[in-house]
Amino acid sequence: MFSKNIQNLKTSPVRELIPYSKKAKDAGVDIIHLNIGQPDLETPKEFFEAIENFGERTIAYSDSSGRKELIDSIKKYYNNLGINYENDEILITAGGSEALLFTLMTLFNAGEEVLIPEPYYANYNSFFAMLGIKVVGIPTKFEENFKLPEKSVIENLITEKTKAIMFSNPGNPTGSVYSKDELLMLNEISKDRNLFLISDEVYREFIYDGKDTVSCGTFVDNLDRIILIDSISKRFSTCGARVGTILNKNKEFMSYILKLCQSRLSISTLDMVGAEALYRCMGKDYYEAVNKKYMERRDFLYEGLNKIDGVVLNKPEGAFYCIVELPVKDATDFSKWLLGEFSYDNSTVMLAPAKGFYQNEELGLNKIRISYALELDRLEKAIKIIDLGLKKYNNK
Ligand SMILES: Cc1ncc(COP(=O)(O)O)c(C=O)c1O
Repeated sequence: MFSKNIQNLKTSPVRELIPYSKKAKDAGVDIIHLNIGQPDLETPKEFFEAIENFGERTIAYSDSSGRKELIDSIKKYYNNLGINYENDEILITAGGSEALLFTLMTLFNAGEEVLIPEPYYANYNSFFAMLGIKVVGIPTKFEENFKLPEKSVIENLITEKTKAIMFSNPGNPTGSVYSKDELLMLNEISKDRNLFLISDEVYREFIYDGKDTVSCGTFVDNLDRIILIDSISKRFSTCGARVGTILNKNKEFMSYILKLCQSRLSISTLDMVGAEALYRCMGKDYYEAVNKKYMERRDFLYEGLNKIDGVVLNKPEGAFYCIVELPVKDATDFSKWLLGEFSYDNSTVMLAPAKGFYQNEELGLNKIRISYALELDRLEKAIKIIDLGLKKYNNK
């Protein structure tokens, strides 16, 4: 009765845990959420002020392509990064999620293949399943902080059905950042084999220790094939204001995306009004202050987890995630146990088992993904709970 593609939708890696977390919550246990990639910082006041000052009496549909004022300010934001896109090369979408969905709808027929380094952002799976896209994982190693393999390894995965290489940089769920050389290598493959490069850069400002990387928007020899995916969700702590962006210089591609935008008429006018103010008002100081805050949390988490016997992790280079290997056989079972049977000071933690981020789930079996978008005191307590929990779980 229902479509095969819909029935094939994979569910989120934490879905299995939800009944356990609900039970713990109902029992009055405070749950520290290390499973959610939602920044907790305050949204800058400029967002709200712009909406309060919206002078029109009717909230009308906006242009399907996005409000011109917003596109102008995004163009300027990119100009400041040394990247040049014209207004008709920028389309506004309902979050990065719609940007991804529209991009995949435009590029792929069912049965065609996407190359993607794994582990990868699990929500991509919903889009792949919906559209019947076959995922071909590019292998990376936890021990090497998920850096890309040799060019020949990637080239050997290409078939006549491969349409695109897709990745997020900085990476969710890995917290790793590709070097400029790794990205140049992907750019070479894209040009040589005529593949689109879908570069999801929603965590662009979250790069630590001055790691040498670039936006794929700087590869000016290939901007017809490079599709940049962007969003205000993480950049400005505005996950609930659904404003994303697709940037590309291929006129035919953009004309199809525009048709998709027209089919859903408009995104939220007020969200775009707020987003425009953010792009216009927030500058280097803001990005630096946010970066500093997340780097502090990164350092705190990394040092704390490293002290726990048997816990292994790479130092995250960007975004606000990391994959952590635990001294357990099955991290999903441990995560359920933490929610269902363990608490410290009436608190416990909710983790995201890492297997759901892999095509080859075996690779993620003893690992979790942690999101450290939390205040230090919450992180401190979470680390303590993981430490005590592991000791008790392993002595059961
Ligand atoms: C890698 C990556 N891309 C895209 C998104 C989509 O974000 P949004 O739809 O809120 O812009 C997320 C959200 O967590 C993400 O982690």
